[in-house]
Amino acid sequence: MDHFIYRDGALFAEDVAVADIAAAVGSPFYVYSTATLTRHFQLFDEALDWGPHLVCYAMKAASNQAILKTLADLGAGMDVVSGGEYARAKAAGVPGDRIVFSGVGKTHDEIRAALSGGIRQFNVESEPEMRVISQVASELGTEAPITIRVNPDVDAKTHAKIATGKSENKFGIPISKAREVYAEAASLPGLRVVGIDVHIGSQLTDLAPFEAAYQKVAELTETLRADGHDITRLDLGGGLGIPYTRSNEAPPLPTDYGAMVQRTLGHLGCEIEIEPGRLIAGNAGLLVSSVIYLKNGDGRDFLILDAAMNDLIRPAMYEAHHEIIPVQEAAPGVDLAPYDIVGPVCESGDTFAKGRLMPPLASGDLVAFRSAGAYGAVMSSEYNTRPLIPEVLVHGDQFAVIRARPTFDEIINRDTIPEWL
Ligand code: LLP
Repeated sequence: MDHFIYRDGALFAEDVAVADIAAAVGSPFYVYSTATLTRHFQLFDEALDWGPHLVCYAMKAASNQAILKTLADLGAGMDVVSGGEYARAKAAGVPGDRIVFSGVGKTHDEIRAALSGGIRQFNVESEPEMRVISQVASELGTEAPITIRVNPDVDAKTHAKIATGKSENKFGIPISKAREVYAEAASLPGLRVVGIDVHIGSQLTDLAPFEAAYQKVAELTETLRADGHDITRLDLGGGLGIPYTRSNEAPPLPTDYGAMVQRTLGHLGCEIEIEPGRLIAGNAGLLVSSVIYLKNGDGRDFLILDAAMNDLIRPAMYEAHHEIIPVQEAAPGVDLAPYDIVGPVCESGDTFAKGRLMPPLASGDLVAFRSAGAYGAVMSSEYNTRPLIPEVLVHGDQFAVIRARPTFDEIINRDTIPEWL
């Protein structure tokens, strides 16, 4: 469910007409709904209400300061994967004891910064990384709370580029080696083992792979406890999928997920942490773009938009499907026609959809890409020297630009010309 609906034929974001935002900020732009972000966070929070838990938003999905602050004010923790994300979380007011640090390649400097600024836990991904954390914590005269990310070798049944829980993936340590690695962790100075971490992939639309992984985590918890480790937290990662098409069967809801977690892990008495990104932000954001030209090709017609692959890379990168809807709703019964919907970038890959049925549109008309709130703005680039597009946050009948469109001068002046030129 989201808060982007038509009212008298005009698309609204909560109580603001999308066309009014376009008139104020120009197109293209991203717009997010506070009410949707809030609702999605609360769904997860309530789904885990049966026990102690912390929902750590995977901020890689959408990391604007205003989005982070919206969630942090609700009590969200953050899952960060870089020094930059850690700094963003802190800047948005998230206390260190609500930040978990994931990622396979944490550097010495990132570890030091997080230990100095405060961290809830590092989710360790390899023995070499664990040794560096031990060394840095010892140098700082402190103790680093850690979990170890285990790779449970389950098939998440999602797109190959976003599956992470098979043994062929670079993530975590093989679950078969866990006892050995936990034993080393216990022997190293500067480390405090607090739990186990697992994350098997993203856009999962079935609970079965999660359940299979979590059952392995349950068994491992008992084994590690018998070995003398203090396992008090289980970080279960993110990955719950969202409906990208309305015709699709609806993926499981956070409530179903929470009940499954209780069933598989509830008896262990651990604090549960989860790291959802896409489900919180995905359907809380639209990419709004306008039609530049309608071009009649040989046997196909093109709708050329002012947004491009640099603004939303998901279709080019993962063959992802995003619904594209007119901001002014089509009259009922109007004939739809197939279009290839493309951007202006000089690559054939700059195609958002092929043969997509659309109502009649003309130059200047606005369209909205649904489900663009997660992995949209954060994955954008300035390819073709196209400025990063503005981000707008709506709250009831108010809206604010939360990241402004840079000018060409601002972009160009980031470059420097060496003296010899
Ligand atoms: N935790 C860890 C350790 C992760 O690697 C990820 C996502 C998450 C949590 C959040 O997963 P989510 O709840 O959002 O599924 N760019 C891709 C998605 C990449 C996901 C990477 N890791 C896309 O546009 O589909």
